[in-house]
Amino acid sequence: MNVERRKFDALIIGAGGGGLRAALQLARADAQVAVVSKVFPTRSHTVAAQGGVNAALANVLPDNWHWHMFDTVKGSDYLGDQDAIEYMCRAAPKAVYELEHAGVPFSRLENGRIYQRAFGGQSQDFGGEQAARTCAAADRTGHAILHTLYQQNIRARTHFFDEYFAIDLIRDREGYVLGALVMSIESGECLLIEAKATLIATGGAGQLFRTCTNALINTGDGIAMAMRAGVPAQDMEFFQFHPTGIAGKGMLITEGARGEGGYLINREGERFMERYAPHARDLASRDVVARAIATEVREGRGCGPEGDHVLLKVDHLGEEVVAKRLPGIRELALTFLHIDPAKEPIPVYPTAHYTMGGIPTNRFGQVVAPVRHGPEEPVPGLYAAGECACVSVHGANRLGGNSLLDIIVFGRAAARHIVGFLQENRYHRPLERESVERALEHRARWDRKGKGEPVAEIRRELRKVMEEHCGVFRDQQVLSEGLDKVKALAERLQEAVISDHSRIFNTARVEAMETENLMDLALATVTSALARTESRGAHSRIDFPERDDENWMKHTLCFADGRLDYKPVRTRPLTVDPFPPKPRVY
Ligand code: FUM
Repeated sequence: MNVERRKFDALIIGAGGGGLRAALQLARADAQVAVVSKVFPTRSHTVAAQGGVNAALANVLPDNWHWHMFDTVKGSDYLGDQDAIEYMCRAAPKAVYELEHAGVPFSRLENGRIYQRAFGGQSQDFGGEQAARTCAAADRTGHAILHTLYQQNIRARTHFFDEYFAIDLIRDREGYVLGALVMSIESGECLLIEAKATLIATGGAGQLFRTCTNALINTGDGIAMAMRAGVPAQDMEFFQFHPTGIAGKGMLITEGARGEGGYLINREGERFMERYAPHARDLASRDVVARAIATEVREGRGCGPEGDHVLLKVDHLGEEVVAKRLPGIRELALTFLHIDPAKEPIPVYPTAHYTMGGIPTNRFGQVVAPVRHGPEEPVPGLYAAGECACVSVHGANRLGGNSLLDIIVFGRAAARHIVGFLQENRYHRPLERESVERALEHRARWDRKGKGEPVAEIRRELRKVMEEHCGVFRDQQVLSEGLDKVKALAERLQEAVISDHSRIFNTARVEAMETENLMDLALATVTSALARTESRGAHSRIDFPERDDENWMKHTLCFADGRLDYKPVRTRPLTVDPFPPKPRVY
């Protein structure tokens, strides 16, 4: 076992908002914390979050956490776990004030309070008038949060391993997770980081799809790593398509644009959302708006020469509002479309955005998995938070603004639990040679050279297959064909090479391991989607158009070998009455 070793109390894999919020909590509790990130931390994908973070502060309109909870349960199409949702919505105001006190430069109202805008699926009084719950720093809220958390971590002396790729978890025969094997992207050298507790915070897997809002780094590494360590992936069939990606390109145009008063029109200039969601209109839940846009285009009412998109209007808001509240999307539209949204509408179409599924956890951030086909139990020493985790607060469809909330609430909750775990587990457990060797072998597979199909080509095809076979609308035939195609690609990946030259670049090694991760998640996504014979939230089956509460109020668990299992939704909140499933209208 000829590999350099370092020891820490806690290892955090991923330096987005979830990882950094957890790291800060741990460092302030005097734990020795290592954060491993495959990019420089402030390039993590949280930086791209635009519209804001939800908390019932009631700065603009009346609000309270219980209404927020109702909206989140309804938004999840009743698949969200109500104990975790209650916990998150109650914790939200405190979590946002903590960010404010850490230095996040939120936009301000005239009276100095944090600015809040309307977002989709928000209501007052359990389904009444529109609420304004999303705390914003213009349309660059994630950027503001990530930079603040990074600076605070530097101050708290968190140890960063920048540009290190996490290869595999180290798990012993008793099931304890003891750290991870990582690789320096600069040198290609492996490093074994031993930790008493490991938190996965690697974000989502938007790179599964050709057109997406996600950065190139969002390849689901943490979810795939957990699967290889025996943990199933939960609810992978629920992938969110954001209604307003730049048409044909995918970059995010924030829901905040509609929150500020923007609206969608079709080729006839009709505000079509009035037909699909008569009450909430353009601020219905994301799955509803994404399906409406896709339907307009399918039925021939799309805009442009190809009729393949609709238009988002914000030009009526005036130059001043666009400059003050939406400067980021103006820049995006100018850069990628040469269009000034203050003057012309923006062509938009749904784009892959958010992984609702992921690593199953409880509300303390502990990863939970079935033990020997029995009931699930916490995996000792393993935690997950943020988009890679499935708590599940988003269920079948996440509300806009609840993702930044999820990372800060559950990043903090996981760290608090880890502090207790460290008190009870004061010493590092001995490493077993085999588990380290397994991880080293995984890395060594990609030392292969010679003639063969390039990995990059397989990755390109995979993203196209996922887009064509697992998109906004699905049915048995499209999904079955998709599954066959993904399986064929997985076989080709076994034989693929990353270089036919004598030199292999480490970035190519990383791309190859990312492609393996994407492949495992593609298989889990399509397998889970094929099995769920109902429509719920973002999983819309043309052949099973109704929600089926009798048979499908359950979470999917997909194991690395493709086996599926299920567990019931936790419908009992912590202190309030449950919200039973109802028809979901907006
Ligand atoms: O539309 C947006 O600004 C995205 C926010 C989110 O996904 O929470």
